[in-house]
Amino acid sequence: MARRFKAPRGTFDILPDQATGRGRIERAAARILSRAGYRSIATPAFEDTDLFIRGVGKSTDIVQKEMFTFSDKGDRSLTLRPEGTAPICRAYVEHGMHKWPQPVKLSYVGPFFRHERPQAGRYRQFHQIGIEAIGSESPLADAEAIIVLSELLNELGVAGLTLRLGSLGSAASRQDYLDQLSRYLTRNEDRLGEAVRRRFRLNPLRAFDAKDEQTREVMRDAPAPVETLVGEDALHFEEVKDLLGAAGISYVVDRTLVRGLDYYARTIFSFECEALGAQSEVGGGGRYDGLIEQLGGPPTPAVGWAVGIERILLALDGEVPEREHRPIIFIAYDQDAPFAVKEQMVSMLNRLRLGGVDAEADLKGRGLKSQLKHANRIGASHVLLLADRSAELKDMETGDQRPVDPWEVVQSFIGDAA
Ligand code: HAM
Repeated sequence: MARRFKAPRGTFDILPDQATGRGRIERAAARILSRAGYRSIATPAFEDTDLFIRGVGKSTDIVQKEMFTFSDKGDRSLTLRPEGTAPICRAYVEHGMHKWPQPVKLSYVGPFFRHERPQAGRYRQFHQIGIEAIGSESPLADAEAIIVLSELLNELGVAGLTLRLGSLGSAASRQDYLDQLSRYLTRNEDRLGEAVRRRFRLNPLRAFDAKDEQTREVMRDAPAPVETLVGEDALHFEEVKDLLGAAGISYVVDRTLVRGLDYYARTIFSFECEALGAQSEVGGGGRYDGLIEQLGGPPTPAVGWAVGIERILLALDGEVPEREHRPIIFIAYDQDAPFAVKEQMVSMLNRLRLGGVDAEADLKGRGLKSQLKHANRIGASHVLLLADRSAELKDMETGDQRPVDPWEVVQSFIGDAA
């Protein structure tokens, strides 16, 4: 027998049933983000490997062990994008977006790739929705970013969320703190786990990521970023917190919060969901004021986040609520009726679809009863029953059924959709 294939480890197919929930998540995001002025951008699935080494940072797990890197036929090193921020900053510089009105507010959705050990909520190809607001240093931009993410998660009904907030201080003032932390880690080096010992000289903040209990104990007494904020950094963080408070968003300040990417400066945040277990973060992000300059652009402050679509689905147990209430019309007809009824049905279907209404009909020659069953299965909100010289409209929610003029019904659904 011929060999059968399976989707590669850590990847999965999205079958039509699963695509429905994902579609709802993406549409909710598109609605909320476009209302707040974020315009969509798409970048390639792969980029120059150096973009991620420089952008994401040499000390990160992503660069050290998780990138899908390959050489193309011209011997250029390319990498499947493990995240979206560095590519978008690359695009910002490449297209001279600093000349556009600032901040440039962008949103994106798509697949990302990390060679991680697969487990629930962790895949090698996963999907993110994200935003980047580039060109504003104001705490208002941080607060707005967090507020729209909170709005999206609330709209989708993700429960049991905690917003963790921290600040790493700006790159300029952080050096003192990093020196202080490095000295602390050097003093305690023999108590640190192997991975942290290897990496802390590249970026001492990585020590806060450690999973092993012994290192975590060392880190409990380590000087923490939020506790060492001074001057403008402290003020910036206070304002972000005040603005979130004004928007009614609750948060906890997490003294040891750090993130897995090196580009962050000042505000960082993470939405965690207790139901998710080990991979508890649904989404997160922060400010990355130095990244665009590091990628050859003018000094440009920026803030953004990404959420994992799979993590949202896990948190919702696969049940994404429908908030759009778009009607779906199913046109049912008696198979024994004259051919003219089928013609009328096709013409109505076409008219409804052109008018922006979701419409379906039986394509298999089912009997009326099983057409109704099918209409129910696909989630039709209304069934228009066509007979030889009459028609009825059935409301699938109330079960109400009444005689109608079918073309009037078609027109009224199109009117509602406009
Ligand atoms: P990140 O924290 O690496 O940040 O990823 C953001 C989200 O992507 C995570 O919270 C998680 O939901 C999801 N995610 C990450 N890795 C996986 C995986 N292996 N499997 C499933 N889901 C995953 C970033 O990527 C930054 N670019 C966010 C950002 C935007 N910061 C500023 N702007």
